[in-house]
Amino acid sequence: MVAAFVGSLPSLGLGCASLGNLYRPITRDEALAIVDAAWDAGMRYFDTAPYYGLGLSERRLGDALRKQKRADYMLSTKVGRLLDPDTATDIAAERHGFVTAMPFKVRYDYSYDGVMRSYEASLHRLGLARIDILLVHDIGVVTHGADNQRYLADLWNGGYRALDELRSSGAISAIGLGVNEWQACADAMEKGRWDCFLLAGRYTLLEQEPLYGFLPQCEAHGAKIILGGAYNSGILATGTRRGGELHYNYGPAPQSIIDRVTRIEEICDAHNVALAAAALQFPLAHSVVQCVIPGLGEARRVRQTEQLMSQAIPSAFWQQLKQEGLLDIEAPVPAGRD
Ligand SMILES: NC(=O)c1ccc[n+]([C@@H]2O[C@H](COP(=O)([O-])OP(=O)(O)OC[C@H]3O[C@@H](n4cnc5c(N)ncnc54)[C@H](OP(=O)(O)O)[C@@H]3O)[C@@H](O)[C@H]2O)c1
Repeated sequence: MVAAFVGSLPSLGLGCASLGNLYRPITRDEALAIVDAAWDAGMRYFDTAPYYGLGLSERRLGDALRKQKRADYMLSTKVGRLLDPDTATDIAAERHGFVTAMPFKVRYDYSYDGVMRSYEASLHRLGLARIDILLVHDIGVVTHGADNQRYLADLWNGGYRALDELRSSGAISAIGLGVNEWQACADAMEKGRWDCFLLAGRYTLLEQEPLYGFLPQCEAHGAKIILGGAYNSGILATGTRRGGELHYNYGPAPQSIIDRVTRIEEICDAHNVALAAAALQFPLAHSVVQCVIPGLGEARRVRQTEQLMSQAIPSAFWQQLKQEGLLDIEAPVPAGRD
């Protein structure tokens, strides 16, 4: 049974890694303006994490949302990384991709106490009285390599129990994982009861591997997907033609990806479709995908995103992608607006 709460998440939410100065600094005013613009556009779901700017994203998001009625929006944050005071590091330097002056360093902790401490610290940083969804952040071999087994043991020996207690007491409404690897979610479903998975970058216009096995497993489990990284961290929003470095999965895009996106862009041109519109709308066609949460680094992106969400995309566009082997033949696609 899908948690009713997750099933009520709107199809478009705001990914708030950018509020933590991911790759480039934005001012506090700019950050608050992004959230205000999102609110004015009707967006009511926001995803953040202690990791995003080492506390900065949570602080800014809470500051922007505090003036709203708490019952009017939904909020997820994450557990698994505690932020310890750091007096030694040069805080002017980019850390973990974030340009942040927050004087903290990350310590992984997926234990019972770690989850509870993280939850309370997030409430304080946000300055809000409630968090709706807690997601176990980046547990998996992509982040932890050989150490993953140790962290998994901590999760299953206590961290999961903390999440389950918070959920059953009503303190939070739903629990899940927030990861870039679907395999971690597939394994977690064997051992616990999860409401949702924030899966980033793995079910996009560029890759559909979860279609077989994983997404049906979510359906059977009753878990929904919150789709992060629908632009694969940039290239599916910017395309290949703007010049400068192209981002793919939080790094420079390899030539094979640039070539693939270039061909998709040609098909977009032939059908008068914006690449970013196709990227944003594609994952939502799958019944297990509840919402997409693009990362927006400027307030004007909100209006652009609304337009991308509503752009008509003809069926022939999706058909041609499939015919050319650029999209899995079995992938559900948005109803064509011919
Ligand atoms: N492990 C996890 O739990 C996990 C991992 C990754 C992501 N996430 C979640 O998913 C959210 C989204 O992921 P993401 O931000 O990493 O990647 P994303 O949404 O795939 O891409 C964000 C990038 O796309 C650009 N962009 C967005 N709209 C655009 C437009 N209309 N035109 C041109 N460029 C545009 C943004 O540029 P500008 O900055 O210039 O606007 C930004 O650089 C995160 O904020 C986070 O909430 C979670």
